[in-house]
Amino acid sequence: MKGYVILISVVAALGGLLFGFDTAVISGTINFIQPYFGLSEAGLGWAVSSLLFGSIGGVFIAGKAGDHFGRKKVLMLAAFLFLLSAIGSASAHVLIFFLISRILGGIAVGIASILSPMYIAELAPAKYRGTLVSMNQLAIVIGILVAFFSNYLLVGTGVNNWRWMLLVMAVPAIVLFFSLFLVPESPRWLVARNRNDEALKVLIKTSGKETAQAELLEIEDTLKNQEESTFSELLSPRIRPLLFIGIILAVFQQITGINTIMYYAPKIFANVGQSNDTALLQTLMIGGTNLIFTLMAMALIDRFGRKLLIIFGTTGMMLMLTGLSILFFTNQTSGVLVLIFILGYCAFFSASLGPTVWVMVAELFPNRLRSKGMSVAVVALWIACTIVTIAFPIMLEKLSGGITFMIFALICLANLLYVLKYVPETKGKTLEQLEKLFEVRGIEIKE
Ligand code: BGC
Repeated sequence: MKGYVILISVVAALGGLLFGFDTAVISGTINFIQPYFGLSEAGLGWAVSSLLFGSIGGVFIAGKAGDHFGRKKVLMLAAFLFLLSAIGSASAHVLIFFLISRILGGIAVGIASILSPMYIAELAPAKYRGTLVSMNQLAIVIGILVAFFSNYLLVGTGVNNWRWMLLVMAVPAIVLFFSLFLVPESPRWLVARNRNDEALKVLIKTSGKETAQAELLEIEDTLKNQEESTFSELLSPRIRPLLFIGIILAVFQQITGINTIMYYAPKIFANVGQSNDTALLQTLMIGGTNLIFTLMAMALIDRFGRKLLIIFGTTGMMLMLTGLSILFFTNQTSGVLVLIFILGYCAFFSASLGPTVWVMVAELFPNRLRSKGMSVAVVALWIACTIVTIAFPIMLEKLSGGITFMIFALICLANLLYVLKYVPETKGKTLEQLEKLFEVRGIEIKE
């Protein structure tokens, strides 16, 4: 694989790192911003989820602006917004200023969540696309781990500790902004803008001289004589099944409960009687587990395919959640088993739904409709994430841990059955070959 393609993927994946950091950093600041801004429990809920509302808006901007101005320029805008958000939220003295800064960060998260995987998918050679797009997920989990870790290091820095925690994000934001000058625009976007010569140059660098010309012809073929795409085309009989698969996978990725752990782990550990220190250490172990199993998924995704990983991973998640639920039902939450089941659940998620869903939403749609199709699927993902984030503390309180985790286990089962029946395998083919296959044979692709 070419070093150049790896460099491009690493740069784009920095967007994923900021996405992970920005969504997780808030967990360490909660105890300090709540008294500082005088927030009630509900007020805190809104302060935490303000970012997620921004993300929903960011996705729309990413789809439209990404088609118009190109993937690279809009990623630069996201980097700039991350920087503004870091400085703004760290220096806020009134709540409204804090919220606006977090919403700006959320817009950047929304943009990065679409454009980083899309840009990598459009630049990666088919053989390695799964691994390379998963680099974005690797960056997300590294971002989460860095946030947990830097919160841990900064917590003792005095009354302004939460400001430092939030300001740390300025560093990767600046790195992302400047490193984007090193990478080219997506060849698929260049062809859509009739800039075929530039596209060819990029393809020669990413795929080699021998295949570049053929790839260019293939891309031209999928885009020729086509008018500007519209959202309503997503509902055409040919695209609708793909849109449903994208949306359903995106929603399942969230409603199987991953962010109940990512955003609330310290709270869960505290609930089962752990001290603050232990809770924090265990949260760091979650971050480490994510990292290791994402690396494993990257090594396997182009060999075994997306579908097998999801089937295996979702089964594991279901078993771990069932175990957790039984512990809560039988009041045995004080032992080490809670931690083992939570780590196991995170490991199975990281090896399956974490990376594969982002890879699949980036590769399912035809070139012309990619950014629109992906936007709709990813908006669904953020909406599902917001609902779970708001609902989880209420579910824990009103339904108990046993029922709450059992519900998530049943949702894993539903996901498993859905994937077995409806989701096609997409590994190893160029985006254009997939486009033709989906067109010729419907979505019933069997290897
Ligand atoms: C999900 C995020 C989640 C992260 C955790 C991503 O794939 O989209 O919502 O926080 O994985 O690893």
